[in-house]
Amino acid sequence: MTTPSKRKQDERGSESAHIGYGKLILFGEHFVVYSQAAFVGAVAAHTTCRVTLAPSDAWSRGLHVVDRRPAVPGYKDEKADEMLHSTALVLAQFGLDSAKRAVAIELGGDLCAVSGIGASAANCVSLARALAAELGLSLSEERINAIAFEGEKGYHGTPSGIDNTASTYGGILRFQRSPTGPLFEPRKLAQPCLIVYASTGITASTTEVVGDVRKRRDADPAWYAALAARYQTIFDRADKALAACDFATVGALADENHALLQELGVSCPELDNLVVAARAAGAIGAKMSGTGRGGLMFAVARDTVTQTAIFDALSKIAPQVWKTSFA
Ligand code: MEV
Repeated sequence: MTTPSKRKQDERGSESAHIGYGKLILFGEHFVVYSQAAFVGAVAAHTTCRVTLAPSDAWSRGLHVVDRRPAVPGYKDEKADEMLHSTALVLAQFGLDSAKRAVAIELGGDLCAVSGIGASAANCVSLARALAAELGLSLSEERINAIAFEGEKGYHGTPSGIDNTASTYGGILRFQRSPTGPLFEPRKLAQPCLIVYASTGITASTTEVVGDVRKRRDADPAWYAALAARYQTIFDRADKALAACDFATVGALADENHALLQELGVSCPELDNLVVAARAAGAIGAKMSGTGRGGLMFAVARDTVTQTAIFDALSKIAPQVWKTSFA
């Protein structure tokens, strides 16, 4: 897929900034690491980036980052080292090194930096787009995605590529990693799927949680294989349900997928409480989304009235709650 570089008028209205979308994994976090297919949807919020490269010693060498992204408390501090590593990896893709040249980066946008929403991927994608623009390069979406994937390694260690692919292309995607690169197809829904998503306020380490799953999988391959087989049937049914806009089934499958992620050991009491509260408020299904052990959950709503009821119920117990829809 090649599309023109995604630009957006930034908050100050004067110059355009370069964007990366946030995302929610609908089905398949963790299983996607081991090459099972997953569904991911971009949310209606994004990170913007602007970059200025100093030609000479106009200002001191090094990295100058102004991070105006909204964020849950603690997120930016906890991710500071990973962000520096990731930024260096993205710069290296352009042959740049901030030890040799001054690089000014300004991040903004309306995507709240919170575990689970793909904030790191949106950072990498918007940075790759902004660097390409600053260097006068016209890069394909495939190349932007590949650069962002390299940047994600600074945050995730061994990313599957699902987050940066969703952040680059937007929309709903069926995603699968493969030895030859990411395999993905856009999925269009005939009717919007109404979503409420909420943060636990807990910043998770994807590297740590993915590492723990790997250890458990290595220690007990039969246990993992049984979970993976159950996940595959959830995915196959979700594929049909999404195509038919059968959101009652999508919701029921979200419930099943959440239970599976609990068994995998990646949920936590805070996520479970939000999932239970969303169901009690009328959600047709709810699950954690992304890394887990903190981060985010989402709920599927039947209509806008229930969407508001779920939003109101979660707002009483979650530090941050949002509405979005997938189409
Ligand atoms: C993180 O958003 C999703 C995980 O499956 C890790 C990955 O796919 O790289 C937990």
